[in-house]
Amino acid sequence: LDKKAFFKLSYGLYILSTCWQDKQNGCVINTAVQVTSSPACISVAVSKDNYTNELIKNSKVFVVTALSKNADMKLISEFGFKSGRDVDKFKSFNTNITENGIKYVTDDIVSVFNCKVINSVDMGTHTIFVGEVTDAKILRDEEALTYEYYHKVKKGTTPKNAPSYSETEEYGFRCSVCGHIEKAEALPDDFICPVCKQGKDKFVKIGS
Ligand SMILES: Cc1cc2nc3c(=O)[nH]c(=O)nc-3n(C[C@H](O)[C@H](O)[C@H](O)COP(=O)(O)O)c2cc1C
Repeated sequence: LDKKAFFKLSYGLYILSTCWQDKQNGCVINTAVQVTSSPACISVAVSKDNYTNELIKNSKVFVVTALSKNADMKLISEFGFKSGRDVDKFKSFNTNITENGIKYVTDDIVSVFNCKVINSVDMGTHTIFVGEVTDAKILRDEEALTYEYYHKVKKGTTPKNAPSYSETEEYGFRCSVCGHIEKAEALPDDFICPVCKQGKDKFVKIGS
């Protein structure tokens, strides 16, 4: 099995949010896919470790928002590297609320899909939730962010909970504040994290 073959799969980047009782949360995913058009359905693959998974299992509703190519890395860092068990991820961003009460970020978002779960598949580490789209709208006339652009141009990385995580990403220096990995043999003294703007002293060496 040549693991590099998986790098040839293409994805977009999204924030998946949900609410259950008074708990609002969301996380970054790259696994939103339109699976049918009539009815329109979207599937998402969510790690069982993610708080978002626990909430969707209970609420059976979710919102998928597609990120813009211009998305701020701080947004991705907040929703992709922190857990809603520890922080309120929404507090620093502009948000809106769907008719069924789900909060979603409106900054750097190009489109919004409101979904109700009609099926789910237990994949061991992850759950695939299939949602029927009950509402969809465009928020901005901007290009959507792709996984490739996020990695190649924005120099973003992927944490272990993402299905597309690869151990080959794990070398260089990891920012202990936001999780960003800088692939380099050494960091200059004036190095600043491109995601959270911390200095070199916050970076730890990883991999070989
Ligand atoms: C680029 C990127 C892609 C990701 N894709 C997924 C994904 O498809 N599924 C998933 O479960 N987690 C994915 N994650 C990881 C979650 O966003 C991350 O574990 C998050 O902290 C979970 O937050 P929660 O505990 O509040 O739900 C991805 C993260 C990044 C940065």
